[in-house]
Amino acid sequence: MTPAPRELPSVLDLAPVVPVVVLEDAADAVPLARALVAGGLPAIEVTLRTEAAPEAIRAIADAVPEAVVGAGTVLGPEHVGTAVAAGARFLVSPGWTDTLLEAMRGSGVPFLPGVSTASEVVALLERGIEEMKFFPAEAAGGTGYLKSLASPLPQARFCPTGGVTAANAATYLALPNVACVGGTWMLPADALAAKDWERVRALAAEASGVRPAG
Ligand code: 3PG
Repeated sequence: MTPAPRELPSVLDLAPVVPVVVLEDAADAVPLARALVAGGLPAIEVTLRTEAAPEAIRAIADAVPEAVVGAGTVLGPEHVGTAVAAGARFLVSPGWTDTLLEAMRGSGVPFLPGVSTASEVVALLERGIEEMKFFPAEAAGGTGYLKSLASPLPQARFCPTGGVTAANAATYLALPNVACVGGTWMLPADALAAKDWERVRALAAEASGVRPAG
């Protein structure tokens, strides 16, 4: 009997908090990833917004086996190819088109297309996709908007990103349709500029301790 194809793990179930990394220097990738993992945040999204991103993904994939490194800001088939070739184990996009979806589906790794309206959610459900990024979360309506989607569209599960902070992460995580949140709040620009990995580790530890607001 042919074994059933292995179910791909969900991006949403990797970790409750996913740091979103923008790196200018690939040499920072490994110490940064080690600091995040040490703080309890193993799922790391490296955005393809800088030239350093593919090398950064490759370096983390090679040198930090405890991390699950993925690519963010995936905008088209070329990005999908670059990310997977570099070792990305998941893909995230701020929005989607059918061309992008086709490439992400063909990548062999789990992916999260971005949405910010009910119509976009419905269009993804129509295409058989139930897991998505909600972006830009705060600007698009925040927890109130997501709460309103839960009743008519309960099958959709989200990772809100964009404006999520230490102050509101617990409120997002308490929603029935939110599985994880993403953001940059544990990666302040001045800490990255100073290569202050201990501060990143401490902020990651704080972020990984966030629990759904009761
Ligand atoms: C992004 O794509 O930049 C992420 O959504 C992070 O947003 P944040 O900086 O508001 O956390």
